[in-house]
Amino acid sequence: MRLSLRFLFLLIPTLVALTVGFMWVSYKVESKWVSHDLRQRSKLILDSIHDSILDSLNAKRPATLHKLLNKISRDSRVVGVAVCSVEGKIISRSDAVPSSVTCEHLEELASGNPSFFRYQDQLIHQAVYALINDENITQGHTIILHDSSYMSKRGDLTRKYGIAFLLILGFLVSSLTILVYRWSVSRPVAELSRAIRGVLTGNITSLSKSFQKTDFAHLVKNLDKILAELHRAKATTTEESTAKWTVGRFRSEVQRLFGGTKLCVIANREPCIHNRKGTTVETLFPASGLVSALEPIVRASSGLWIGHGSGTADRETADKNGIILVPPNKPEYALKRVWLSKEEEQGYYYGFANEGLWPLCHIAHTRPIFREEDWVHYLQVNEKFARAFVDEVKNACPITLVQDYHFALLPTMVRKLKPNAVLSLFWHIPWPNPESIGICPWKNEILLGMLGSDLIGFHTQYHCNNFLDCADRFLEARVDRSNFSVTIRGHTCFVKPFPISTEWPTRYQPTDRDFIKIGHALCDELSIPKNVQLGVGIDRLDYTKGITERFLAVEKLLERHPDLIGKFVFIQIAAPSRTHIKRYQDLQSEVQELADRINWKFHKAECAPILLRLSHHDPSDIFRYYRAADTCIVSSLHDGMNLVAKEYIASRNDNDGVLVLSFFAGAAHELTDALIVNPYDISETANAIYKALTMNEEERRSRMTRLRESVSNHNIYSWAAEFLSEIHKISQQQEATRMVAT
Ligand code: G6P
Repeated sequence: MRLSLRFLFLLIPTLVALTVGFMWVSYKVESKWVSHDLRQRSKLILDSIHDSILDSLNAKRPATLHKLLNKISRDSRVVGVAVCSVEGKIISRSDAVPSSVTCEHLEELASGNPSFFRYQDQLIHQAVYALINDENITQGHTIILHDSSYMSKRGDLTRKYGIAFLLILGFLVSSLTILVYRWSVSRPVAELSRAIRGVLTGNITSLSKSFQKTDFAHLVKNLDKILAELHRAKATTTEESTAKWTVGRFRSEVQRLFGGTKLCVIANREPCIHNRKGTTVETLFPASGLVSALEPIVRASSGLWIGHGSGTADRETADKNGIILVPPNKPEYALKRVWLSKEEEQGYYYGFANEGLWPLCHIAHTRPIFREEDWVHYLQVNEKFARAFVDEVKNACPITLVQDYHFALLPTMVRKLKPNAVLSLFWHIPWPNPESIGICPWKNEILLGMLGSDLIGFHTQYHCNNFLDCADRFLEARVDRSNFSVTIRGHTCFVKPFPISTEWPTRYQPTDRDFIKIGHALCDELSIPKNVQLGVGIDRLDYTKGITERFLAVEKLLERHPDLIGKFVFIQIAAPSRTHIKRYQDLQSEVQELADRINWKFHKAECAPILLRLSHHDPSDIFRYYRAADTCIVSSLHDGMNLVAKEYIASRNDNDGVLVLSFFAGAAHELTDALIVNPYDISETANAIYKALTMNEEERRSRMTRLRESVSNHNIYSWAAEFLSEIHKISQQQEATRMVAT
């Protein structure tokens, strides 16, 4: 029932009770007053005629007495007066005294209260007084009768007004109360329930200003806080479900998942290298895809990066434990450098990792080399990093992200030292089928070493399936293909795809948004005419990247379209890599010779068709090339993902440019709006380059817009967040299992 009705239900009976009470009390009080007043009046009358009555009695003059009594009775309110003898007989009475009035029991009446009786329609007040002479002897009694009706009429009138007043008062009080209730309670409560309904239906609105001025001020304050929180939570949820992943959102996600727990990356390549250049020390941030993908994770948790201290000035810039805070000018995380001897570096890095595992995992037709001594060093260095990690984190148990093929054995080594550690391994390169892996003499040790992790990530489901096939083929393990896990020696490891991506938006946005100007400036710098079309390839100098195939495709293009000679320049930036390995040295000569040959063949006075830059370029520099290029060619023979493809897309915020992409790069699974080619098919690649150079603007823009949508939706932060949330899920499950066990 509504509160106002309930209020009326209470108010009306209360008012009735009050009125009845008032009538009763006023009647009682009035009767008392009337009786008192009439008694006084009667006494006054008696006093005025007492002596005259006695005189008339003593003189025995009944006519005089009768006259006197009638005279007194002329008073409009006096009904009559009678005189009785001591014997109780009427001596005289005025004419209007009712015959029923007798002189019986007068003694009693004289000493007690006056009495009332009804006569005709009148209420008669009867007062009896003794007539006492000078000797104090009672001579008789006088009865004075008053009509008290006037008094009760007055009382009735007073009561009528009183009741009317009470009713009006009751009406006013209840109306006012209902109004005040409406303003102060009913409306605010309605607004409150509107706000709560909004919360339930997801349509959260703020409370109105007028509501904030009500007596609910405190409640309003707190409720407003709750609403603001809900607003924020709703915004975050909406943002989470619809918005892109940003570094800010990723940082909050890391906080949400792991609180203060640090994240530790163990990777061979350090994110910051110090090299001595004469008397100065040069700081280098390697343009490695792995570094740019993992660094934001460590930064977000102020975590730890453990890497090989490979720079010539690394020791002098780190403390005695090999620790240095990075970036040096604005430290955000710690880098622990692990020192390796020449022999260790040779056997572990150049030998087993890069002459054994690298060609083993990349189907690029370079034969892997497996040397016993390289394997021993690989084992020792993995052990060294495992110990460095355990020494550094001491009793803490950070979430650990082991990176790549350099540390296949490390997860099981750490697990032995720290059984409760949460360990993951991300394999940045492809994982081939069991036939390919089967040729490695230490395939079982490698598989067992990797399976010490709780989670192994690859770029594609295809690589995951290959890994599960290998575990199934070579180990006594239980492979569960429904939930993608391998259980061996009582430990379960999940194997899942996490396609890596690039930073979005890139930190290398140009200050100048005029891409044509950027292109012209670059052409000036490289002494190329400004009217040429530019193609670009950015790689480490590696035989898996298909650089020679790319050059051959450029040659084929110019053969087929001689009008492009002098009108198209292909710039290849190839950062020298693993230069102590013969295959890489050979590759360098191969690439140089090929570029020379093609340039000699198609050289025009103004420019050569291939510009080969065999040097390291800073990322900001590389982004200038991306922006200047009409097309970017990624022709890897085999690649885990290839971040150059994604970086080119990230750089093109003019929505222009065409990507030519190898079918054998992991990126081809996602970037379907690129021109996908088989790099071994030189003719097909040449055609794709031609298509890229002659594509109309509308198609270029629509393809690039879709590519940008894809990369921005799946950027490095979403990759990291997905990977970390999987680790978090696994660590929660482990925690629950441990609790049940204890
Ligand atoms: C490429 C691979 C990474 C690998 C890196 C090593 O970027 O995709 O998986 O870690 O090369 O390069 P580095 O110069 O350190 O041998």
